[in-house]
Amino acid sequence: MAEKLVKGPIPHAGTGAANPRQPGRIKRFQPAMAKPIYVLNGPNLNLLGTREPEVYGRETLDDLRIRCERKAAALGFPVTFRQSNHEGELVAWIQEARTEGAGLIVNAGAFTHTSIALLDALLACTVPCVEVHLSNIFAREPFRHHSYISKAVKGVICGFGATGYELAIEALASTLAPAKAK
Ligand code: DQA
Repeated sequence: MAEKLVKGPIPHAGTGAANPRQPGRIKRFQPAMAKPIYVLNGPNLNLLGTREPEVYGRETLDDLRIRCERKAAALGFPVTFRQSNHEGELVAWIQEARTEGAGLIVNAGAFTHTSIALLDALLACTVPCVEVHLSNIFAREPFRHHSYISKAVKGVICGFGATGYELAIEALASTLAPAKAK
């Protein structure tokens, strides 16, 4: 088949998306997609909505995901939102966020109070991290007052329920903004 000759600059590979505003023209430049904010949730958080609602509220994990995606989208970030009941899986995801993420929000659930493995993974994480808890862990049983992972994060938000996740995204985005502007 004969090749069609097109006048003008050669469309750049991978950026030749159709331009809806000017049909027939090729859109040549697209802003680079920001890396995602990772939101990692630890054990038992899959039960949100039905698990001790007087402590953790009635919103489900899916409701939290939607809140995070909306808040992050408004600030220009996609979200990678995950939950696991397994410590090793959380370690692997923190390691992934280190290279694939813009930043990391972690609610490590009960591993917060037990896991040196999560602390070490977060210490190795070069992107900014925020620790979140739905409940105010300091107003609860003494064993919840100590967090192994706080040493490795930029800040901690606790006690604001689901809103805390949105606050964490705002906080993270504000620490990332200067880097984005460079
Ligand atoms: C939690 C607090 C932890 O103490 C508890 O083990 C959880 C949830 C919170 O979000 O309030 O599972 O991290």
